[in-house]
Amino acid sequence: MKTAFRALIFASLFGFAAGVSVAQNLISLDGVIADAEYATVREASGMRLGFRLSADASTIYASVTVRTAGWVALGFGSPKMDGSRMVLAYVKDGVAQFTEDLGKGWSHAPTAPFALARAATEKDGWTTLEVAVPAVGFLKGRTLDLIAAWGRNDDFRSKHSARTSLSVVF
Ligand code: HEM
Repeated sequence: MKTAFRALIFASLFGFAAGVSVAQNLISLDGVIADAEYATVREASGMRLGFRLSADASTIYASVTVRTAGWVALGFGSPKMDGSRMVLAYVKDGVAQFTEDLGKGWSHAPTAPFALARAATEKDGWTTLEVAVPAVGFLKGRTLDLIAAWGRNDDFRSKHSARTSLSVVF
């Protein structure tokens, strides 16, 4: 009985670990972009952008890397600031700061957190943000409307130095 119980625990732990490592082979939300981590890659307005839809289509993974020591941001669900759900990040003194905001007109303010995970790093003058969000509510069919922007300051209020608006079809 005891042995069977141990075997059950081992099997479930092993199964869980194997599942995690399969997912991690594709995406690792650590603020570092590995080769082939993102299936779709774009460049716009000084930003390197990466996208991947999970195999079960439940989760969108997105990244932005910019040559800035200031803020970077991704906004989901709208081609404009208005109505976009944004994750903004900057790294100051080695510590990543985040805010999850809703765009209103050409401004934005904190909203209920919606990201499943997020990570940001700053290295050699480049700042990277990686975000996972649920596909439901953001994906229209196979299309994701999205905005991205970056600024030169370590804050969430100063205007962008550059911004872009794009549609990604998974
Ligand atoms: C931090 C405060 C922000 C201010 C004060 C601001 C202000 C503005 C203004 C005045 C415009 C009009 C066109 C222009 O001047 O470029 C604009 C457009 C735009 N912004 Fe922002 N913005 C901010 C943050 C963001 C963020 C965080 C994003 C991305 C997540 C973003 C993405 C865009 C995009 C894609 C446009 C063009 C589409 C549109 O008109 O909405 N902005 N912004």
